[in-house]
Amino acid sequence: MINTHDDFNSFVIDVTEGQLEAYKSSFQKNDEFILIPEFISRGILTRMLLDSEKSKEDAHRSFIPKHKKGGSVPRPILKKKSPILSSLYESREILYFFNQLTGQDLNLCPDHDLHACALYLYTEEGDHIDYHFDTSYYKGARYTALLGILNRSECLLEYELFHKQEGQDIVKDASPVEPGTLVFFNGDKVRHRVTPAGVGDERIVLTLEYVTDSEMSLVTKFVSNMKDAIAYFGFRSVFGTKDV
Ligand SMILES: [Fe+2]
Repeated sequence: MINTHDDFNSFVIDVTEGQLEAYKSSFQKNDEFILIPEFISRGILTRMLLDSEKSKEDAHRSFIPKHKKGGSVPRPILKKKSPILSSLYESREILYFFNQLTGQDLNLCPDHDLHACALYLYTEEGDHIDYHFDTSYYKGARYTALLGILNRSECLLEYELFHKQEGQDIVKDASPVEPGTLVFFNGDKVRHRVTPAGVGDERIVLTLEYVTDSEMSLVTKFVSNMKDAIAYFGFRSVFGTKDV
């Protein structure tokens, strides 16, 4: 049994050594992608939902025609209002689990990265994101964790594996991201999208970002900030200026 307990509580289901080996093998076989239902313990999931509610009013909604529509709450707001979510990001136990999956020595992103720990909120008809990679703007690889918090929606995460492996057919699949589900993948390898929300749908997902090297060049930092400002959090949050 690996230790999945933090000082104040247990975040995730207990994972036996045998399960961990199976997860590692599945992650590596599937082009660094894994989906684990019921990963988060029920008690923590309830607290995550309550904490998400506290930050919802601070969501920044963005709309990029044909690419993305939805609300996002950045890391500093979560840190202030939803401490369980940022604690989860900073959990050494979860980082250890991801290190085991990837075989890498992963790092948290620097404090200024608003995307490192953020909420995605789909609350309006048509909220979605089109196909993309979670491109690393850092010098190393970037891994994304998605944790389902609430799903009263028809949205599906559709994903394509082996996109960048020559001579290998692309494998396509789709799944809802149900409460407690973990989806973890290499952002540069897995092409993915979330299909549009229907009328009255509500979907909340926590995203966490881990990197093998937390350095970023000035040019890529600017590109990354522009992407976050336009597609997610607004110019005020990213650059400290008014929205434009
Ligand atoms: Fe993504």
